[in-house]
Parts: sequence; C-alpha cells; structure tokens
Amino acid sequence: MINRPRGTRDLLPEEMEIRKRLEGIFRRTCENFGYREILTPTFEHTELFTERSGPSIMKNLYAFKDKSGRELSLRPEFTAPVIRAYVEGLRERPKPLKLYYFGPTFRYERPQAGRYREFWQFGTELIGPDTPRADAENIALAYECMKKAGLEDFKLNISHLGILETFFKERNISEEAGEIYHAIDNGSLDDIECDSGLKEELETILDSDIEEVKGILDDYSSVDYLQEVLSCLEDYGIGSDKYDVDLSTVRGLDYYKGVVFEFEAESLGAEKQICGGGDYTLGDIFGVDVSSKGFAIGFDRTLIALEKEGKAGEVSRDTCYLIPIGEESTEYAYELLSTLRDNGIPTDVELMDRSVGKSLSYADRAGFKYSILIGEDEVKKNSVTIKNMTSGEQSTIERDTILEVLGQYETC
Ligand code: HAM
Repeated sequence: MINRPRGTRDLLPEEMEIRKRLEGIFRRTCENFGYREILTPTFEHTELFTERSGPSIMKNLYAFKDKSGRELSLRPEFTAPVIRAYVEGLRERPKPLKLYYFGPTFRYERPQAGRYREFWQFGTELIGPDTPRADAENIALAYECMKKAGLEDFKLNISHLGILETFFKERNISEEAGEIYHAIDNGSLDDIECDSGLKEELETILDSDIEEVKGILDDYSSVDYLQEVLSCLEDYGIGSDKYDVDLSTVRGLDYYKGVVFEFEAESLGAEKQICGGGDYTLGDIFGVDVSSKGFAIGFDRTLIALEKEGKAGEVSRDTCYLIPIGEESTEYAYELLSTLRDNGIPTDVELMDRSVGKSLSYADRAGFKYSILIGEDEVKKNSVTIKNMTSGEQSTIERDTILEVLGQYETC
C-alpha cells in the first residue's frame, strides 16, 4: 500500500466545501480592501529563500536539484516570491500595489496537530507606502478576515521591532542579539547568557506598558510610530480592547523590521498562531528600495479554530438525484436533467442501471435532498415525481413548475 507522505492530507469533498467557503470569505474581504490576486510558482530558486527568510524557514526547506542541476525549493511562504514577482513584472505599476494570494506552502517540520508539511496560506502584500496608515490598513485587513470568517476567540498581539533593536543598540549589544530574539520568540529568557542587569532590564521592557518603555530608551521614535499606528487602528473600530501591545512578538523571519503582529487562537494549544505579518524589507535583495507590509493566515489552523467554535459551517447536500425509469423515459429525463443543470440546480443522474428501490436507497445514503423519478407515467402526463429524501414526502407535479417548486424549497 502506498500511503500519502507524512505531514500531508487528502482534503475530502466535505472538507473542500467548507474550505472553499472560507476561501471565498477571505477573497471577498481582501477585494473589498482593494487587493487583487497574484499567484507565483510552486517552486523557486532556493537562493530566493536563503537570502533573507531566516534560519527557522531555511532548515525546513524542501530543497532539491532539478535534472539540469538547478537548486530549487518548494515555496515555504509567499512573501519572497511575491516581492520577486513585483521586481520582475510589476515595478512600473502605480503604487500602492495591493496583492493577495492563496495556495499550498511547504515546510519540512515535525508534523503534529495543526502543523503540516504541506499547508495553505492566505496572505497579502501591500507594496509602496511606508506610513502608519499603511501598517494600520495591513493589520485591519487581517482583523477583518478573522471577523468575517466568524472567529471570536482570538488574540491579536502587536509590536514594533525597532523598540528592541534600539534597546540593543543603546546597550551596545550586537552579537548576542540574534540569540536573545530567538529566546524571546520561544517565550523564555532563562537560557540566554548575558549580564543579569541586562536580563532584568529586558524583562522590564517586555513587561512594561508602552508609555513606560519611553522612559527606558533614549530614542523612542519606534514607540511613537507604534502609537500612531494604534491610533489609526481606531479609525477601523479596532480599539485598545481588541489587541495587546506585546514586545515579545518578534516573528521568526529575518526580513521584518517595523510593526509586526500575530493572531493566536488559544483553543489550538501549542500551534496556536493563526496569522502573522508586519513590515519588512525584501526589495533590497534585488537592489530595489521599496517599502512592503503584509501577513499570512494559516488557512488550515484557522479552520480548526473555527471548527472548535462551531463556526466552520455546515456541509450542504442540496443536489437532486434524477432516476430515469425504463428506456422510453430516457430522452424526457435527460432533457429535464439539462434544464435543471442549465438553471444552476446541481443534479446527478443514476448511471449504474440500478432498480428504483436501489437508486432511492443510494440517494438516501449519499445524502441527496431530493430524488426525481421519471417513468412512463411522468412522460405521458408531462410531469415529474419528486421525493423529499429528508421527510419521505413524495408528490407529482407539472414538469413546467419544477424550477419554481425547487426554488420554493430554496435548496438549489
Ligand atoms: P509565518 O508566520 O511563517 O509567516 O506563517 C504564517 C502562518 O502560517 C502562521 O501564522 C501559521 O498559522 C501558518 N503556518 C506556518 N507553518 C505552518 C505549518 N507547518 N502547518 C500549518 N500552518 C503553518 C509567513 O509565512 C510570512 N510570509 C507572513 C507575511 C506575509 N509577512 C509579511 N507578508
């Protein structure tokens, strides 16, 4: 037996229906914010990711050589590919450029609940503006996506990487900074080796109110910038009760520089981060100076969080099942089949030459809402027999009224 590879999933029809619905909500929300879709290749030159994505992604790359010896990698994320696409084909477009994307991404990680080797990201990149208003729009869109999806139990943490960076600079820390960021990202400063006074100061900064941080830094321009972004967020109805300013939000990717944020769903346990993003610099790896901000929603994790809240939505079986009885009814039945399909009523037809009893039993097991029976009598009387598979009720109606009748049931 050949099984599917570790960390991958088969997405079965019922799940696909629910996923498509969520995808539609995210798409509409982004389009309402003026974003347009982009899709980049599934694999890229490995170098694109090794340049700046940072060690957390690098060690997890699905990297390979193709038959001509090119070093390629399956995309672990979309941000670097989108900036590459911008540099290659969109640079001349008027800015801001607002792009969204949806697709599978690949990371060689140890699989566990909510952590896969192939997972889907729904994300955006906002290229051009470098203003607090643009950061606010970026965060507000991610927030709106979560709200429109129906998610209620989530936390939004916001920070500005410049604050810790300034602190390190003012304390002359350069070499250990990487290790400290890593420790902060992992949620514990216990294992870092540095001066105990510094550790204490760091803990104070991480625990302090944002106003208090100003008293610790000589240059607090990053704090001012963050406060401006937060004030712009109020214009979207996102007040301070909707987020936490949490300076330990440092993000795992090396390209971030300014305001960053993460959404967490506590119900997910260890893998609770459902969205992450912020302000970053990537254009410079192509020699292009352009400001950019974005985020990516972990589509699979968000769905699990929605399921836990009972908000993922129902799988609907609103199709009709057509059962032609006898050769002489075939033409009439297939004309009706075309009419239903042409009118957008999903209709399946018996293809296995089963008896009426067996066909009805199949329709019941498969979860069809209606069976439509067409026999000699129906053809003669220009009628249609409909059986409601939920109630068992059966009635014969004039053929011409079928669209109206199905419409009345509001099924299709
Ligand atoms: P990221 O935080 O690495 O950011 O990934 C975004 C989201 O993808 C995470 O918040 C998480 O929900 C989901 N995710 C990550 N790894 C896995 C996994 N192994 N299985 C399931 N879900 C996972 C980025 O990728 C950035 N490119 C986001 C961004 C866009 N920043 C600016 N623009």
